[in-house]
Formats: sequence, C-alpha cells, structure tokens
Amino acid sequence: TRPLKVALLGCGVVGSEVARIMTTHAGDLAARIGAPVELAGVAVRRPSKVREGVPRELVTTDAKALVSRGDIDVVVEVIGGIEPARTLITTAFEHGASVVSANKALLAEDGATLYAAAGKHGRDLYFEAAVAGAIPLIRPLRESLAGDKVNRVLGIVNGTTNFILDKMDTSGAGYSEALDEATALGYAEADPTADVEAFDAAAKAAILAGIAFHTRVRLDDVYREGMTEVTAADFASARRMGCTIKLLAICERAADGRSVTARVHPAMIPLSHPLASVREAYNAVFVEAEAAGRLMFYGPGAGGAPTASAVLGDLVAVCRNRLAEATGPGESVYTQLPVSPMGEV
Ligand code: HSE
Repeated sequence: TRPLKVALLGCGVVGSEVARIMTTHAGDLAARIGAPVELAGVAVRRPSKVREGVPRELVTTDAKALVSRGDIDVVVEVIGGIEPARTLITTAFEHGASVVSANKALLAEDGATLYAAAGKHGRDLYFEAAVAGAIPLIRPLRESLAGDKVNRVLGIVNGTTNFILDKMDTSGAGYSEALDEATALGYAEADPTADVEAFDAAAKAAILAGIAFHTRVRLDDVYREGMTEVTAADFASARRMGCTIKLLAICERAADGRSVTARVHPAMIPLSHPLASVREAYNAVFVEAEAAGRLMFYGPGAGGAPTASAVLGDLVAVCRNRLAEATGPGESVYTQLPVSPMGEV
C-alpha cells in the first residue's frame, strides 16, 4: 500500500510533538491505519525555531505551496489564528486533502466556511484537539451521541484559568499573584488575555454548542465574562457558603427546543459538585443527553503532548477513511500481544 502523505502546518509546542510521535510510533500508526503515514512537509514561519528531531529537509516557509502540491492526503493545521489558517485549510480541501485542525479560534469564528469546503470536496474535517486537549469530547458528541438528544454541555474548558482559580482557592492568593505563578510554571502565556478574559473558553463553548445542538454557533453568540475580577474575598465568601468559584462554559438547549444559549463566566459551585474537585490545569465537561443521561469527561485539557494525542487520534481516523475510500474497507488490523490472566503481580 502506498504511504499516506501528511503535511504539518505549524511546528510549535503541539506540532513538534505531533512530528515526534509520528516518527517514533511510525510502526504502530501504520499497523492501526493499514498503511504507512509519511510526513511529507512541515510549514513554519521561522525555520530557525524548529525543534530538534524534525527532519530539516521537510521544513518549508511556503505553506501555500505545500498544501497545493496535490499529493497530500492529510493536512494537520496547528498554527492557530484566523489567517492564514483559513485560506490554507480551504486550499488543502481544494487540492483533495482531508484536514485535522486544533484551531479553536478559527472553528468558532468561521467554522461554516471550513465545513462547506470539506463538504464541497467530500473530505474530512476533524478537530478533536480544538477543545479540551486530550479529552475525547468532539467525536463523542459528533459520533457516539449523534443518535441522542443533547440538552446541556457544562464544564471547565480552560486549563490556565482553572489553575489560577485553584491557586487562589487553596492558598488564599490574589488574582495577580496566582497569575504570576501560572506564568512562571508555563501555564499562562506572556499575554494571558485570551485565557483570563475567557475568549479561549468562549471559542470552545461555541464549538461545543454547535456540535451538541447541530446548529451554527459563533464566538460572537457566546456571552463572555472573564475571571480577572475574582478576588480572594470572593473565595472567602464562597467558602462560607460551602462553595468554590470556577470559570464555567454552559451550553443549553431552551426547554421549548427552539433556541440555544452558550455562556462563559465565573460561577459559584457547591464543594460537593464533581467540578469543584477539578484541580490545577485539568478540564472536565458534563454532557446531559436525553437517553444517555449525564456523562462526565475529565482529563488534561492543554499542553503539547495531550493536545498532540488528540491530533494523532484524528489523523488515524482520517487516514483510515482515506484508505477505505481508495481500497474498500480493509481487515481490522491489530497486534497480538502476549496475554496473561493476572499480569505481573
Ligand atoms: N490556553 C488553553 C488553556 C490551551 O489553558 O486551556 C488549551 O486550549
């Protein structure tokens, strides 16, 4: 079987981890897909910044030429932001590639354009990594729960702000002190605006609401309130009431089913609620569906390796689809490992 060719757009924290896993786990990935996957090019803005381990000969600054080559099966977009990501993704579809993206800002701002381009060219658009890092959430909502009726999605979808609020809660620190610690530990970025003013969480809420309720929800449709005004005194009063404070994303279907709402704001929650015990930079999301009931998704919501895990899961799924298209469904591929009933005790 011919190798499936992958173009990587962006090689920062997530991209370099994707490239590394593609190389070190090449054999496993090939076995799971049914064909080898080959990294065919890596487009970056500054080649001097590309981390060690990424083959130099694959690095290019011409992303447009890479996605227009015509022999690329899958484009993995981890550059973020609206442009040039949007143009590169639509160009990739025009040239017959499927796309895996981690770009929450773009999906929340103009997901419609991406879906339309994927549909027009009959290609896949997967974006598990755009919301809640490693936690499988997009595909469960899009696929596993597609036959159910989701009424509510509620949770913590920003790791940086959860880290800051957790610090304030457990140490009595004020907002600036906790932010400084988050920055020193590499959770918060030099400019923390997108996280602390909840633009990041609002983008994720827009994506989740759109998928959960099978409609289009844009960033501008989401009510947004950041967490910069939360004080140590607020935490003290919350404590007295048996509560803590979390930045929540809440997406709901109206009772009459005729509208949906999405909002992000700090909220008091009882200490007995499972979300109260989500610590540090973890994420947790509840999904309430008519037949399934209440489901909880929990795990690392940010960081290079967890986000790369989600990207690679999508890459495997998209590659399997490409292969099935080309050759018809293959035999299920697995590696037989020795099985011992009790394991090593
Ligand atoms: N800044 C984001 C967070 C990264 O802290 O959750 C993951 O989207």
